[in-house]
Amino acid sequence: MVIAVYPGSFDPATYGHLDVIQRASVSFDKVIVGVLHNSSKSPLFSVEERVNILEKATRHIPNVEIKSFEGLSVNFARSNHAQVIIRGLRAVTDFEYELQMAQTNRVLAPDVDTVFLTTSLEYAYLSSTIMKEVAHFGGDLSRFAPPEITQAVQRKLQEAQK
Ligand code: PNS
Repeated sequence: MVIAVYPGSFDPATYGHLDVIQRASVSFDKVIVGVLHNSSKSPLFSVEERVNILEKATRHIPNVEIKSFEGLSVNFARSNHAQVIIRGLRAVTDFEYELQMAQTNRVLAPDVDTVFLTTSLEYAYLSSTIMKEVAHFGGDLSRFAPPEITQAVQRKLQEAQK
């Protein structure tokens, strides 16, 4: 049984993340998405909200589980008996940081391998940050994430403006 973890901020998940999760669920027996609880960042959504959003968006995929974690991704992988860390690669601009992270993770935990999935072309430009930026200026979010997620982004931004 090969278990993979997919760590990230997911603030919030986009179609790009959901595409990686869907495709990883075909190649691995179990995919555990790890939502990073990072106290030094100030995310738009709390870690509980990000987990909840991902749970709803992936409930149709039986071998996917959503958890939160703190600390190192390799420790999250090991504590879940995962042999693999999954990361999505959008463009060459992601590569340097992702390679450095994968190599660091390999030094820390040689028993855990990083597997990169190239993002589907239609989502190659997309990130949570881009979606929030467009939302901030009232743009159309429908190409970025499912309606439940885009509505949650709009509600959050409205609350923040009150
Ligand atoms: O979605 P993101 O923000 O690109 O994800 C980055 C993430 C969460 C995978 C990365 O920051 C991470 O693994 N953080 C946990 C700390 C850690 O393990 N760092 C790796 C050694 S460089």
